Amino acid sequence: MPRKVIIDCDPGIDDAISLMIALFDPRLEVVAITSTAGNVNAERASENLQALIECFDPPRRPRIGVGTAPSSAPPVDSGHLNGKDGLADTGLAVASLHQRHPAEKLIGDEVRAAPDEVTILALGPTTNISRALQRDPNFATQVGQIMISGGCVNSGGNVTAAAEFNCYFDAESARHVIGSKTTKTLIPLDVSKQVLFTIDLLDMLPKGDARGVSLLGELLHFAFRAHRWHLGIEGIYLQDAVALAALLEPELFEMTPMAGDVETAGEITRGVTIFDRRHNREWTNNMEVATRVDSMAVKDCIVRGLVHAVQQIGGD
Ligand code: RIB
Ligand code: CA
Repeated sequence: MPRKVIIDCDPGIDDAISLMIALFDPRLEVVAITSTAGNVNAERASENLQALIECFDPPRRPRIGVGTAPSSAPPVDSGHLNGKDGLADTGLAVASLHQRHPAEKLIGDEVRAAPDEVTILALGPTTNISRALQRDPNFATQVGQIMISGGCVNSGGNVTAAAEFNCYFDAESARHVIGSKTTKTLIPLDVSKQVLFTIDLLDMLPKGDARGVSLLGELLHFAFRAHRWHLGIEGIYLQDAVALAALLEPELFEMTPMAGDVETAGEITRGVTIFDRRHNREWTNNMEVATRVDSMAVKDCIVRGLVHAVQQIGGD
């Protein structure tokens, strides 16, 4: 039976690519997709989500939940890496949503409807998940697993010298979710940055004018250019797709139980994930953290997912 999953995301090129794979993977039943502020503001994230669903036109349309901004977030701009619109400035058409379900309510409803069965794939700041926890005291025990794309263990950050973007943007919610009595897995930057796609990725994907093929091509070309110009890297990271791969093929990762927390008040360390690694540890393990990855096999998993998705999307 496919695994029920809610994808909470801030699209974002790597979010879009993860959605594309997930919506056509027979191992998953994507019951809902919710937007969260991060790479783009909450309104734009919702529009992007909807535009992506329209473009992909998956066989089973998930419900869409609309997020709103966290109460306080630092000013960040990821336009240089994702395009001003978050989607490589592709100008995808968007129709306005008829019904605007609040993201945290939709997440809570889906979890309540299938206790222990729903996994949340958190690909952006965890604002909505924190709110779902606040709304319902039973949520923590009813949600199946939360797979979080974010944080760092030994590596430096990507948005500040110390912090990973998703934990930095809404550090308070990251702290709340990580400290909650939920079953969690963290896919940190240390691991996602080991999965570097070089330009030959483009040769492995179908070519042509079909809708999915051309959107994917535009997203990837933008990402390769942006990584070269702004990060000085000949290749791209698809952080969120690595988190999706951990859900699909967990055997490709080594997971270590760890005791973690998130800094919310530091002057230069806001959003840093801290782990108690003392011999005489005082904190209790509260999550599994991916500490090793078979990067070749993860790349293969992502490429297979993309090839399958664009074949299914078809169209013109
Ligand atoms: O790393 C910055 C952003 O890009 C995060 O939202 C992450 O999930 C990726 O989408
Ligand atoms: Ca993201």
